[in-house]
Amino acid sequence: MPPKQFQALVVSEEADKTFSRQLTSRSTADLPDYDVLIAVKYSSLNYKDALSASGNKGVTRRYPHTPGVDVAGVVEESRSPLFSSGDNVIVTSYDLGTKIPGGFGQYVKVPADWIVPCPAGLSLHESMIFGTAGFTAAQSVLKVIEHGVKPEDGRILVTGATGGVGSVSVSLLAHLGYRVTGVTGKVEEHAMLKRLGAESVIGRDEATDTSGRLLLKEKWAAVIDTVGGIILETGIRTTKYGGIVTCCGNVASPDLSTSVYPFILRGVSLAGIDSAACPMETRIKVWNKLAGEWKISLLGELAVDIKLSQLNSYIDMILKGKTKGRVVLDLNG
Ligand SMILES: NC(=O)c1ccc[n+]([C@@H]2O[C@H](COP(=O)([O-])OP(=O)(O)OC[C@H]3O[C@@H](n4cnc5c(N)ncnc54)[C@H](OP(=O)(O)O)[C@@H]3O)[C@@H](O)[C@H]2O)c1
Repeated sequence: MPPKQFQALVVSEEADKTFSRQLTSRSTADLPDYDVLIAVKYSSLNYKDALSASGNKGVTRRYPHTPGVDVAGVVEESRSPLFSSGDNVIVTSYDLGTKIPGGFGQYVKVPADWIVPCPAGLSLHESMIFGTAGFTAAQSVLKVIEHGVKPEDGRILVTGATGGVGSVSVSLLAHLGYRVTGVTGKVEEHAMLKRLGAESVIGRDEATDTSGRLLLKEKWAAVIDTVGGIILETGIRTTKYGGIVTCCGNVASPDLSTSVYPFILRGVSLAGIDSAACPMETRIKVWNKLAGEWKISLLGELAVDIKLSQLNSYIDMILKGKTKGRVVLDLNG
């Protein structure tokens, strides 16, 4: 097939070391030489994409670059026997959108072993309402369940509750019958979190303890933390005997200062969550759950749809913690 021109958001590093973002026409001939060419129908905006789009060298070293760690689209050409033209597919993470051009453009080329067939029961659009954030939420919830925490064990705390990972975690846990307390900095979004299924909502102050006490009153059967720093530290000190705290993010801080006491006196477990290098077997298991028994009835309520022309301003908003729920990028047409 002859090369095609397409629209992409390109982030460039300027001579003065600042970064700029432009909508640019690109050619499929310039994409890396991997086996599968995908026409991107939808992508989504994750916090990591905003870091890549603003020159964070911890996420993306080389510019010019097109971010977008999430892709849902249709295979257009394949040199792999695993996929054929017309297949509906999902690609999230690996090096997509960090080291190679990602979903903020209308075409991507990726290795076949990064691709998940879009499961029956989930549309391409719905898969991007979940996206990497939702997938990470599902991994966190799975960790809590596999740890043995049951709905009757008590409330689960979700931090960064209106964010992408947080809002999907709240919805999934409520869907599965757990009692959820959301932590948010957005007073105006308490009602939204309750609609998603949170039993109660508290402010960041209430989830932050600066007393220096090594153990605090036991409150949570589990904590799903998406922010790091003092809120994570407080979560660990308030988790009940035998409970689990999952840790996936660092929007508040990458720091974690804790004593060993929650672990050696209460048997609390701290579990790291990584979606980028998650093995394919787990990836398929999690996507199938999200398309099946974990499919949230209020899925549509979690997301706003935007076009490429609106992406720039949403990138600025997510960097300031001002978005809520999920932002789906519609690349059709
Ligand atoms: N490990 C992995 O594989 C993986 C995968 C996906 C995401 N992540 C990480 O998970 C985190 C969340 O990602 P996301 O896509 O959900 O981001 P997001 O949509 O921007 O949500 C983050 C939320 O955190 C809260 N927040 C922001 N600044 C804060 C601060 N200074 N202190 C406390 N809370 C703050 C806000 O919610 P409220 O206003 O409701 O408090 C915000 O909406 C990021 O660090 C991301 O890099 C990791």
